[in-house]
Amino acid sequence: MKISFAAPGRPKSGALVVGVEAGKKLTPAARDLDGRTGGAVKRAIAASRFTGAAGQSLEIIAPSGVTNSRVLLVGLGTGLDELAQQALGGRILAHMNRVGEDMAALLLDAGADDLPDAAAQIAFGARLKSYRFDKYRTKEGKDKKPSLRALTLRVAGAAAARRAFASLDKIADGVFLTRDLVSAPPNVLYPETFTQAARDLAKLGLKVEVLNERQMSKLGMGALLGVGQGSARDSYIAVMQWNGAAKSKRRVAFVGKGVTFDTGGISIKPAGGMEEMKWDMGGAGSVTGLMMALAGRKAKVNAVGVIGLVENMPDGNAQRPGDIVTSMSGQTIEIINTDAEGRLVLADALWYTQDRFKPQIMVNLATLTGAIITGLGHEYAGLFSNDDALSEKLLAAGLATDEKLWRMPLNDAYDKLIDCTAADMKNTGGRAAGSITAAQFLQRFVNKTPWAHLDIAGMAWSAKERDTVPKGGTGYGVRLLDRMVSDCYED
Ligand code: BES
Ligand code: MN
Ligand code: ZN
Repeated sequence: MKISFAAPGRPKSGALVVGVEAGKKLTPAARDLDGRTGGAVKRAIAASRFTGAAGQSLEIIAPSGVTNSRVLLVGLGTGLDELAQQALGGRILAHMNRVGEDMAALLLDAGADDLPDAAAQIAFGARLKSYRFDKYRTKEGKDKKPSLRALTLRVAGAAAARRAFASLDKIADGVFLTRDLVSAPPNVLYPETFTQAARDLAKLGLKVEVLNERQMSKLGMGALLGVGQGSARDSYIAVMQWNGAAKSKRRVAFVGKGVTFDTGGISIKPAGGMEEMKWDMGGAGSVTGLMMALAGRKAKVNAVGVIGLVENMPDGNAQRPGDIVTSMSGQTIEIINTDAEGRLVLADALWYTQDRFKPQIMVNLATLTGAIITGLGHEYAGLFSNDDALSEKLLAAGLATDEKLWRMPLNDAYDKLIDCTAADMKNTGGRAAGSITAAQFLQRFVNKTPWAHLDIAGMAWSAKERDTVPKGGTGYGVRLLDRMVSDCYED
């Protein structure tokens, strides 16, 4: 689907989309169409419940007086904010694909203070919604595939809109990469092939390094390596650096859980729904998409993304409950449940990241616990942090991008729940406060670094579609962290 911007005008073919403000107030474009169609716009509104409220739409098919296939009236309410603009773009895209339209033009002449920026945001929403993971569908008929080939935004200040869209488009590229990774089947995306996806980003100017098992074992990463021990696939860490600011600027660091498939290991999961554990690399997927977005839009920041890539399998060689492993930090861990593997991967990835890069902040993303879904469902990711200022930045970026976070507590009483007599700690804390004890575990590997852990188990995948997010991999985290970087850490 091609998105473009052009000066105001009315194409002769395809669909037209025009706004109506609250109280059935026609925008200039809608008024003009009403005149040309002998009052069809006003009659259609009168015959419906459409008032122009934000979120509403009303379609008029093949009106006489114009040669266009359809006119879609969209509610602008009393003016749309950025998120509502994106939602509108997503809904227009979905509508056109649903009705089989191949060309649409939005005539935008009211409903926002900054029309070029509104056009860019609407286009961003449409692009985000246009994602589809269909590369393994060989039999889908053309009539079932998305029909829309071109969306044009006609607006005064089209050049400014195009400029504003350019960096949003790069963010969408990152979101799409994350969705591709999260959607990929686990026989295709495993640790080694994931490192290739990271390496591919070198063409954008990212510096990419990969640590293999020998190198990780030299560094003492017994926690991460233990998880991958039962897999026929080798484990890796990939390090992606984007240096967009002065050398002297300390880095912001992002760390991702990349379990390309989580069977649970010897503490094996039940069969029902296990296929979902292909997206247990969602944290690493978001970090990779974020690095792509930052490099793509040439963000003025020094950022590093570190992803721990393993497959958690049962095997004669697999890690056992009762094993004690030594992490890179030197701390020892008794394995109680081999299905609590994400924290083991992150233990070494977090320690390595703070030890090597001394970042000003470190944020990790992980599909870490089922318990966070029990607590927050699919509306908020859990935020755990040792730093109030960093938490505030993340919460604000979450609200601004509709990738929302809810802060959860950390404290010594929870921390005690993972104390252990056989080793320095155990890898599970029992049934109570499962997401919090997992976070306490991670906190033991971040030293004094201002750090936040985002438990995205409820957010990386969506069973239902939303305005700018189709079903499946959501790409959660890319927009959120890109926003935090641009609002708080760019020069
Ligand atoms: N990958 C899972 C968490 C998960 C569950 C993500 C559902 C997405 C959807 C994680 O590795 C896991 O298995 N966690 C266990 C921890 C338990 C053994 C302490 C869990 O949540 O049950
Ligand atoms: Mn698990
Ligand atoms: Zn897992």
